[in-house]
Amino acid sequence: MTEILQQQCAFHLRNANISYVMRLVNGETLMHAYFGKRLGEVRGDVLRRFAAVPEEAFDRNEFRLDRLPQEYPASGYGDLRAGALAVRGEDGVDALALRYVRHAVRDGKPALNGLPATHDETGRCKTLCVTLEDRRLALECDLYYTVFDDCDAIARHVVLRNTGRQILSVDRVMSACVDFHSARGQLLTLSGAWARERRMDWRPLAQGRQGVDSVRGASSAQSSPFMLLAEHGAAEDVGEVYAFALAYSGNFTANVTVDQYGGARAMIGLNDAQFDWQLLPGESFTTPEAVLVYAADGLGGMSRAWHTLCHRHVTRGRYAGAQRPILLNNWEATYFDFTEEKLLALAGKAAQIGVELFVLDDGWFGRRDTDTASLGDWVEDPRKLPEGLAGFSERIRALGLRFGLWMEPEMVSPDSDLYRAHPDWCLHAPGMPRLTGRNQLVLDMGRADVQAFVYEAVAGALTRAKADYLKWDMNRNFSPAATAALPPARQRETAHRYMLGLYAVLERLNKAFPDVLFESCASGGGRFDLGMLYYMPQTWCSDNTDAHDRCLIQYGTSLVFPPSAMGAHISAVPNHQTGRVTALETRSAVAMGGTYGFELDLTRMDEAELDRMRALLAQVKSVRDTLLYGQYIRLWNPFEGRGAAWMSVSACGAQAVVTAVRFRAAVNGGPEVLRLRGLESDALYAVRGTDLIVGGDELMNLGLPLHFAAGDDTAFTAVLERVGG
Ligand code: GLA
Repeated sequence: MTEILQQQCAFHLRNANISYVMRLVNGETLMHAYFGKRLGEVRGDVLRRFAAVPEEAFDRNEFRLDRLPQEYPASGYGDLRAGALAVRGEDGVDALALRYVRHAVRDGKPALNGLPATHDETGRCKTLCVTLEDRRLALECDLYYTVFDDCDAIARHVVLRNTGRQILSVDRVMSACVDFHSARGQLLTLSGAWARERRMDWRPLAQGRQGVDSVRGASSAQSSPFMLLAEHGAAEDVGEVYAFALAYSGNFTANVTVDQYGGARAMIGLNDAQFDWQLLPGESFTTPEAVLVYAADGLGGMSRAWHTLCHRHVTRGRYAGAQRPILLNNWEATYFDFTEEKLLALAGKAAQIGVELFVLDDGWFGRRDTDTASLGDWVEDPRKLPEGLAGFSERIRALGLRFGLWMEPEMVSPDSDLYRAHPDWCLHAPGMPRLTGRNQLVLDMGRADVQAFVYEAVAGALTRAKADYLKWDMNRNFSPAATAALPPARQRETAHRYMLGLYAVLERLNKAFPDVLFESCASGGGRFDLGMLYYMPQTWCSDNTDAHDRCLIQYGTSLVFPPSAMGAHISAVPNHQTGRVTALETRSAVAMGGTYGFELDLTRMDEAELDRMRALLAQVKSVRDTLLYGQYIRLWNPFEGRGAAWMSVSACGAQAVVTAVRFRAAVNGGPEVLRLRGLESDALYAVRGTDLIVGGDELMNLGLPLHFAAGDDTAFTAVLERVGG
């Protein structure tokens, strides 16, 4: 049950497991008091003692805010740490004095104007809105907090309102800030690069500022809009963890500053680098939504809260909580070099092994034989598809497959009819040569005319193809983030206006094509965030399809995102990115950690190999609900070197699927055993395909014996069915 209580001048938000408390001092200053395990009653006397100086000092105009935890600190007036909000009026002074003016509690979860956000259909969550004001600037600031009933998460965002007569410059506006009384041991972020996404980076907290951010125009492969603070010794099953994520796909910052007294200020929101926003009289500004998760039981508990949040409160539409089609994508099978005949042969083999959806990737439009041309010209290339998308998709459907399509709608090639017609439609700065990345420019999604074009181009292609699926790609970053559509003083609004434009188009497409499954992609996992997940329930996890490397990428990704969100395919060996050769069984086992699919030329496989694929695919189909929506438990951390192991337990506990990948062959080693978790101690489980019946207590304490084939990177999978107990 969710509650928002007012006790002892404090606002106390809680559900069955967590509490979040803030407190009004002297009737006007909003202090942060507590975030963590659920509290009973909040007693003001205890809270008061957390202040490093007596609160009475406020009355004497000393700059004491510096020594007290703030709920939403503004910069420049009494608190000497970096604030969550920085706004200047026409006098240019960078100082705000935020004071409480009112609050309201309401049932349910509000939507955010033009932005992706968590939603709630349980009818059991509540929202608190506390309004602060800076009287000098006539700036109101609404702080929103929603606590969920079915996962230990709190959603926060901020709305700024200019109620005065002057133009305000918003230099920084964080979505959430938490002032911890004392720094929690370590910071974990998910960092990486193209094809090496979401590596787990631990670092000890030390005085000063640390964190991750992006100014690339996308949340990025280099750093995810996520961080967690964990006490020393926290691990998969133990330790307090405080996690922060942003439902936003553009420039962000997530950072923590440890102050001189050992307190830690954690903030997440829009990156203030390359950002400021003019707020005109009467206008308001809504920040992206931040979500905070608290877990008392380590990273595992934290991830299960995120996964529940993703399944129930982020993804929407027909595919939320639903099975995902097993697809074959032609990219690594053909790249740009295909004809309709070649694709149909590939699709024929796909249908034969049990694939459900055929996805036509890059190269079907304009004259796109390489990546140097035609983005923006979303018209079928008659050399490759003589009867267009309509005719081709008909043939695919005749094979018993559904049909999906790749597009990269936010981009334009300099060599395209679109660019020749609208050279101003891309992000660019006057007097500077236009920088290309992968030979392309970024369309300026902040412009209404570009939004209309992109919507029509995508809607047209989906309609012609009667598509069941769209892979929405985005393959370069912004540089510079400048636009012909805004005056000089507003250039630093470009990147955020781009995101608002993109979200508006995605929202329209979601509404117009409710049956289409959207998969997001940005050179693989370069825009894997809660914002994209709101519009597109799955994301292509990485362009690196190597099974070994995927163990690490998917493990890091699983900290926040469930398998249902992670696109994962079986690809060819030697792998096209790494040259590594792994067994088909390993590639299949790793793809089972995500949505499962294929991305290789099946026409080159012999019948024996196709038979093995058919059998593996049939096994996946028999457990796919458990794989996608079961409780996901990490067992071996691949970053520690031995291998990767994880399991999923179905919602009712009747089935579990266990996967382990051993990285290095071991000659003459001892028996390998995997201790499972999440089972019922008293229940008995049959191991599918064997005559073994084992107790849950045995599996969790003694462990499941593993059998690996010879060779590096070999996999073991087991399906357990509860048979009694
Ligand atoms: C990106 C994607 C790939 C593929 C290519 C096509 O790199 O991540 O999966 O779609 O574009 O050009």
